[in-house]
Amino acid sequence: MKMSRRYTEFMSVGKTFYLETFGCQMNVHDSEKVIGTLLHEGYRQVESVEQADLILYNTCSIRDKAEQKVFHRLADFKKLQASGKKFGVLGCVAQQEGEKIFERAPHVSLVCGSASYTNLPQMLTQLEALDAASSRTPAFSPADGGISLTTGTAREPEFRSPQLATRNSPLVRITGLDDRATDKCFETEYTARTNPHRGYITIIEGCDKFCAYCVVPFTRGKERSRTSESVLAEARQMADLGYTEIQLLGQNVNSYKDSAGNPSSRKSFAELLAAVGEVPGIKRVRFTTSHPRDFGRDIVDAIDAVPTLCEHVHLPVQSGSNKVLGAMQRLYTREQYLERIAWMKSAKRDIAITTDIIVGFPGESEEDFMQTLNLLAEVGYDGVFTFKYSPRPNTPALGLEDAIPDAEKSRRLEALMQHQKEIQIGSYKKYIGTIQEVMVEGKNEARNQFIGRTSQNKTLNFIAPEASAPQSGTYVKVRATQSFPNSLLGEMVV
Ligand code: 5AD
Ligand code: SF4
Repeated sequence: MKMSRRYTEFMSVGKTFYLETFGCQMNVHDSEKVIGTLLHEGYRQVESVEQADLILYNTCSIRDKAEQKVFHRLADFKKLQASGKKFGVLGCVAQQEGEKIFERAPHVSLVCGSASYTNLPQMLTQLEALDAASSRTPAFSPADGGISLTTGTAREPEFRSPQLATRNSPLVRITGLDDRATDKCFETEYTARTNPHRGYITIIEGCDKFCAYCVVPFTRGKERSRTSESVLAEARQMADLGYTEIQLLGQNVNSYKDSAGNPSSRKSFAELLAAVGEVPGIKRVRFTTSHPRDFGRDIVDAIDAVPTLCEHVHLPVQSGSNKVLGAMQRLYTREQYLERIAWMKSAKRDIAITTDIIVGFPGESEEDFMQTLNLLAEVGYDGVFTFKYSPRPNTPALGLEDAIPDAEKSRRLEALMQHQKEIQIGSYKKYIGTIQEVMVEGKNEARNQFIGRTSQNKTLNFIAPEASAPQSGTYVKVRATQSFPNSLLGEMVV
């Protein structure tokens, strides 16, 4: 590619980017890979929008509130476009809204869904080249109409939306939206992990479940798994770099399907979990998220057999009512869910169980809600994430009648949280007097307490004598002395 003068100048001063992430752990980890890719492409990460040439938002659209955040951010910083800054929207809102983002926020230059991240280097090159071309030769965009390009297809740049461009800011528009049917995972050797002790590894991307409320199959595309060889190679590489905790990620890790080159070495999810847990140097392995339909007993057996696998399973139930589970298209009943809980309760190890619950799904009656409420006590969850149902574009539930008023959703949410708080007050007390191994995550200087995390994923803060103050990332033994609804307090055993 022949570089323009402005482009080379831009290169020589150094290209900078700012990235803000919204949403789930998948998004947090995608951002680590995007950051690694940008660094490899010669960009430098900066701490504020003001310092950046390129401003990126990695977005979430799981609920309406999450989706609105990015539009607020874009509105806040719109005026900075005049100073030559470029804006990009990545992730789930990008995929969901697509080119409509350009209408709502005309200062955006890049819109890219997660299934297109493998094309990011190419898109960045196009962004820079089109940016340079459009600022070098106003004639390039007659009527200052701007130019756009779609990756994944071999389309030539087009002239676009003349009414939206100004002489100082010709429009440059790049989209990566056409790859949701891809078989490829976003694999890169340039992941920029922020924590030096524990890190994520994606094992499966996308989702084929199509729960009635969920936008994920539409934003993240079809399910595709990495090979176990590639996952294990990454785990070994992390161990060599000093990581001791690995969290395996996917929208539904239980439907992991290994396509390793040699069919005889293909692994089930439970086998992969065990193999990661056996990588020398790895002390803890977690995984999220599980779907009850695909959650096999072999996972519980693996946790019992391999001590490095953490004593924690996050198993979203969404509702305790079979009628609502049916309407949600969750593909299991309350009884089948409870069977999986029974497997965990009969394990040799003390497996903590957490869940997600949606209240106010269309048609959820008071009786349905009571069934969810009494499921909490029946399972005795260690933690519950509760959400008010939020209608999402494209999803099957959008057309359902019998919406629950927002005030009623709020009431149910509050009742659920209060009930769970009481359960946790009781269950956290059980740990007083026990000795737990924690990974040290840092220190709360104001309280003079170290922050620790147990294998069960509970927060156990603790005090330690100054002479033996532990470093972040190390593992120490702590005796729990007090309990709260969401955490424990203790003293380091020296
Ligand atoms: N409304 C409310 N909560 C939702 N979740 C997913 N989609 C929606 C929605 N449309 C919740 C589910 C899921 C968690 C990640 O977010 O509980 O498990
Ligand atoms: Fe949000 Fe779901 Fe996308 Fe994660 S996958 S960022 S939770 S919409």
